[in-house]
Amino acid sequence: MKIGPYTILKDIGTGTFATVYLVEDRQGVKYALKRLHPMLKGSPSSIKMLQREVRINKKLFSRHIVQIQEYQEYKTDEDIAHCLIMEYIDGVDLGQYIKQKGKVSPEETIILAWQICQGLMKAHEKNIFHLDLKPQNVIVDKNGIAKITDFGLAMAIGLSAVNLSKIGGTPAYTPPEIWNGQVADNRSDLYSLGIIMYEMITESPPFQGISTSVMRQHLDAKPIFIRDVRTSTPHKLALLIDKLLEKKPEYRFQSTQEVLIALEELAASRGINPNEIKDQSLHVKAKLGVKQQLTKVYQEILLIIGTNIIFWLSTLALREEEILNHPHL
Ligand SMILES: Nc1ncnc2c1ncn2[C@@H]1O[C@H](COP(=O)(O)OP(=O)(O)O)[C@@H](O)[C@H]1O
Ligand SMILES: [Mg+2]
Repeated sequence: MKIGPYTILKDIGTGTFATVYLVEDRQGVKYALKRLHPMLKGSPSSIKMLQREVRINKKLFSRHIVQIQEYQEYKTDEDIAHCLIMEYIDGVDLGQYIKQKGKVSPEETIILAWQICQGLMKAHEKNIFHLDLKPQNVIVDKNGIAKITDFGLAMAIGLSAVNLSKIGGTPAYTPPEIWNGQVADNRSDLYSLGIIMYEMITESPPFQGISTSVMRQHLDAKPIFIRDVRTSTPHKLALLIDKLLEKKPEYRFQSTQEVLIALEELAASRGINPNEIKDQSLHVKAKLGVKQQLTKVYQEILLIIGTNIIFWLSTLALREEEILNHPHL
């Protein structure tokens, strides 16, 4: 099946607003195409949100944020498809990752949280708050690089804010101040990061149930201390997560930089360095680069041989024509 110039190769994910497909263009370049659910196509606010997502995303360049190319509308057989064209991340979202893997080790939790925080820092520097941070909106690629996606509910100073109380994020990850209708800010994303880390360690977010019960728990209940769920959790990591999960934003870490410092200290105490992980994956990429370069050289050689053969054949044909039409032959 085709959408505009893109051929759909497979379905890679479905979210609240859209389905995401792996597609390729006429040149065979792969992209992720996010198509608004057809039932939402009559809703101007959903279309506006999709367009807004591109505008916000265009302000953010980070290795830890999925990049969006453009918004497009394509006519299909039945109706119009409202789409975002994004870079394709070959991997799984963190929700699937936790499901497949089970409990994540403290070391990997620290590394993944550090990477998410790097992406968040870029957004927060521009006064953009994600406000729908959850495992399904973080994609982990084949090299273990985490990338934040879906700034569809993000709030940006200078851009009209989405009415969160109406649309809502996902209850399990939504901080108390949003349930309270208070102002959300960078620290709201840090609370959601805390829930994600809790889930990585224990396999489940701390508050579960129907959404009114989840809301009440976010507002009033203290999460079960993470070491009571998984006793092997390093004490300092448990305290870090506890601080991210403070009900009052002023008691949490105040910035992504503060969280990054705490995570780096924790990583050092466990003999790991998130930056080194980054370098390793870069190394894998560099290796891939060499392979790709070789393929390119082969392609070029083939092209040269090919054009030479065509040239040679056409000269032959001309010679033949010349010989056939020669008056003296
Ligand atoms: N660029 C991408 N590359 C690979 N998979 C993606 C990409 N973007 C999204 N996905 C997958 O599709 C799912 C839904 O995408 P998302 O943008 O979160 O849609 P929604 O706004 O409906 O929640 C994600 O949870 C993820 O599994
Ligand atoms: Mg999503």
